[in-house]
Amino acid sequence: MTTVRHAIQFTDHGAVQSSFLTEVLKGLKREPKTLPAKFLYDERGSELFEEITNLTEYYPTRTEIAILERVKHELALLIGPEAALIEFGSGSSRKIQILLQALKDLTVYVPIDISKEFLYASSLKLGHDYPSLHIHAVAGDYTAPMTLPELNCRKKAAFFPGSTIGNFEPHEAGAFFDTVAAMLEKGDGFLIGVDLKKDIRILNAAYNDARGITAEFNLNILKRMNRELSADFDLEAYRHHAFYNEAKGRMEMHIISQKDQKVTIQSEEIAIQKGETIHTENSYKYEVEDFHNLASKSGFTAQKFWTDEKRLFSLHYLELR
Ligand SMILES: C[S@@+](CC[C@H](N)C(=O)[O-])C[C@H]1O[C@@H](n2cnc3c(N)ncnc32)[C@H](O)[C@@H]1O
Repeated sequence: MTTVRHAIQFTDHGAVQSSFLTEVLKGLKREPKTLPAKFLYDERGSELFEEITNLTEYYPTRTEIAILERVKHELALLIGPEAALIEFGSGSSRKIQILLQALKDLTVYVPIDISKEFLYASSLKLGHDYPSLHIHAVAGDYTAPMTLPELNCRKKAAFFPGSTIGNFEPHEAGAFFDTVAAMLEKGDGFLIGVDLKKDIRILNAAYNDARGITAEFNLNILKRMNRELSADFDLEAYRHHAFYNEAKGRMEMHIISQKDQKVTIQSEEIAIQKGETIHTENSYKYEVEDFHNLASKSGFTAQKFWTDEKRLFSLHYLELR
């Protein structure tokens, strides 16, 4: 269903709610227990993620923003005029506003996000601040098959900042590259932010902030299941745990049960033991060369990449060959 409001179009793929219960039960019946990271983002989850991006410990957002500010005019030349920009996992649409300073003749901006209410609010705000920008917001899951709205443009550029690519297992990242490639034509661009391997202390601090916002973000998924799936998680009996798994090259986020307990989700009862974990998110860290090899398997050539001085984070402009 597509609705038009103040020259902003919204399309709702409506697929998220229908799969929530099924995917939660599947994950909680696994050994070890897991929950898909995409479900961390309800409206409250998106608000908490925004708070995380402003934390002192959380270097990725400010580092990527500084790179974007530095190279925005170069990016405008690479992308060229009259392009359509399609952002996967657009969140607050904060980073596109840097590109808009240099890409003045964008034909359409397509933010895609699973967190519908937050996406709609962010798009309305963006439309208010950039009244001449054509916005077509799409609520949906970018890991599921999705048709883009018709885009009247000279060239398409996909945008995937925030190192959200790191949330995928490497084989899933490959499948995601294939999905994006299928939405683009030869010569189209893909601008993507990728977090780099680094000192473990910096990584561990970024996911264990002193104010406990990341913990609240992680544990919010329990509240969401209680509210939306009539589950009865005892919110006091779980705690946040995040650490760098060196062998796998990823940060892992878990929820640890503080006691033996049972949870009921609709008609299902699931036992959780003291110390047992529910794995909620991975955030893979890359070396530049490994990342380019992965992108190349789906037909993307790295045209240019940039990092900050400390090589904490990287931004890549890929082109579909
Ligand atoms: C790590 S945040 C990044 C937000 C923003 N792009 C940034 O760079 O700060 C991930 C974003 O992707 C969205 N997201 C996560 N999984 C998704 C999925 N499967 N489909 C669509 N959006 C998803 C979340 O709602 C969230 O806005």
